[in-house]
Amino acid sequence: MGRSTDRMCPARALNNPLRRKFAPGSRETAFLDLAPGQVVADLGTGVGFLLPSILDRIGSNGRLYAADVDRENLDIARDNVKADPRVQFLERSAAQVPEIPDEGVDRACLSLVLCCMLDKQGALDEVWRVLRPGGLVMCTYPPAVPRFGPSLAVSKKVWKELVGHHPWEVVPVKQGVLVHRHLLRKPARETGRTETRSPRKDPAVTAGLEKEQGSYPKATP
Ligand SMILES: C[S@@+](CC[C@H](N)C(=O)[O-])C[C@H]1O[C@@H](n2cnc3c(N)ncnc32)[C@H](O)[C@@H]1O
Repeated sequence: MGRSTDRMCPARALNNPLRRKFAPGSRETAFLDLAPGQVVADLGTGVGFLLPSILDRIGSNGRLYAADVDRENLDIARDNVKADPRVQFLERSAAQVPEIPDEGVDRACLSLVLCCMLDKQGALDEVWRVLRPGGLVMCTYPPAVPRFGPSLAVSKKVWKELVGHHPWEVVPVKQGVLVHRHLLRKPARETGRTETRSPRKDPAVTAGLEKEQGSYPKATP
């Protein structure tokens, strides 16, 4: 029998000196190849460990949705970014964020969240809905260790089933020491371009997109 509830995490476990030293947010979010003007969703944001580094990269025109089911963690996250107007906080499950429109974000994060929630497929389905074609999602979770009690862990088998639901392109990405890391791309529409969003007139965004088009290896099957 599995667990019947999602797992909450104490703030001190999410933002502490060891994590800041060995797995800083800036290193994690670098894998997402963020660019100025992008819209990002950090689902299961916790105390917002990744938010400052995302905000640094998306610049003054970027926007960020930060969702979590734990109100206390969200309050800490809000304090951490000092009520930055670019961020919209949502007390929502990663599996249901109706405030985010279809194809409304360029990038999404599920950082150490799938291992805490029951409806993992719901989260991946929701990310599929909100990502623009050509957009990327990064998922991380700790390796599943054999155990006797109920577990929310993401095993290899569970991950394979999760990504099998949609035709994700798998983008090669460096693995973490203590976490599995996956980068998935929602395939671009047949336009010959990687992304289709409009603020391309902004030279900073254009530069980011050009960099992006050249920066990912072809998807592996
Ligand atoms: C291990 S923490 C990771 C937090 C953050 N992503 C990070 O990397 O620091 C997991 C977070 O997932 C949240 N969580 C658990 N179930 C959730 C769900 N169904 N939807 C959204 N967040 C959830 C918990 O409240 C907790 O804040």
